[in-house]
Amino acid sequence: MALLGLATAALTAQARDPARGAVIAAQRCAACHGADGRSIAADIPTLAGQQREFITLQMILFREGIRQVPAMQVAADKLSDDDVESLAAYYGGLPAARAERAPRDAALAARGQAVSAARNCGVCHLPDYAGRAQVPRLTRQHEPFLARTLAEYRDGRRVGIDTQMNGAVQGLTDADVAALAHYLAHRD
Ligand code: HEC
Ligand code: HEC
Repeated sequence: MALLGLATAALTAQARDPARGAVIAAQRCAACHGADGRSIAADIPTLAGQQREFITLQMILFREGIRQVPAMQVAADKLSDDDVESLAAYYGGLPAARAERAPRDAALAARGQAVSAARNCGVCHLPDYAGRAQVPRLTRQHEPFLARTLAEYRDGRRVGIDTQMNGAVQGLTDADVAALAHYLAHRD
C-alpha cells in the first residue's frame, strides 16, 4: 500500500521531461540497456517502447529493494521520482525496436500460442502483447530474458507490484515457459 501510494504520487507529480531522461539515460543506463534503449545482451531487457507506467513502477521496486537485482539497485539508487518519471518518458517514447533473435521454430511458437491462450496472457497484456499502463509490452523483447523472468515469477524469485504474474504462470513446465518466450519474441 505504501508503495502504491508512492507510485501514485510519482505518477501525478511534476512534469515528465524526456529530454532530461535522455541525459540521465546516457550517463547511467546506456552501458547496459543500449544507446537507443535496445539492449545488446539478450539477458538485459530492452526498454525502447516499453510502457511508461511499467518502467516507473519497476524503477521504484528496484530503488526500494523490492525487486532485488543488484545491478539495478545500484542504477536506481538516489534517483528522484522526477528522474524516474523522466527516464520512463524517454524510454517509453522511443520506437519499440525488434531484438536480435534466433530463427522461428513453428512448432515451438504454436505451443507457446496455445499456452498463452490457455492462460489468458493476452487479456492483461492485450491481444497484440503491446501491454498498457503497468502491464508491460512483451513483443520486441529478448527471448532469453522473457524465459528467465517467467521462470523467476513461477518460482517466486521475482517480486512485482502484485502477485498477478506469479499466479498466471503457476505450474507451467520449463518447456511451457520456453515455448511462451519463443512465441512472444517472434510475434512480429
Ligand atoms: C549494470 C547494468 C545495468 C545498468 C547500468 C542499468 N540496468 Fe536496468 N537492468 C539491468 C538488468 C540485468 C535488468 C534485468 C533485471 C532482472 O534480472 O530482472 C534490468 C532491468 C531493468 C528494468 C526492468 C525492465 C523489465 O522489462 O523488466 C528497467 C525498467 C530498467 N532496468 C531501467 C534502467 C534504467 C532507467 C537505468 C539507468 C538509470 C538502468 N536500468 C541501468 C541492468 C542494468
Ligand atoms: C491478470 C493480468 C495478467 C495476466 C493474466 C498475465 N500477466 Fe504478465 N504481467 C502482468 C503485470 C501487471 C506485470 C508486471 C508485474 C510486475 O510488477 O512484475 C506482468 C509482467 C509480465 C512479464 C515481465 C516482462 C518484463 O519486461 O519484465 C512477462 C514476461 C509476462 N508478464 C508474461 C506473461 C505471460 C506469458 C502470461 C500468460 C502466461 C501473462 N504474463 C499473464 C499482468 C498479467
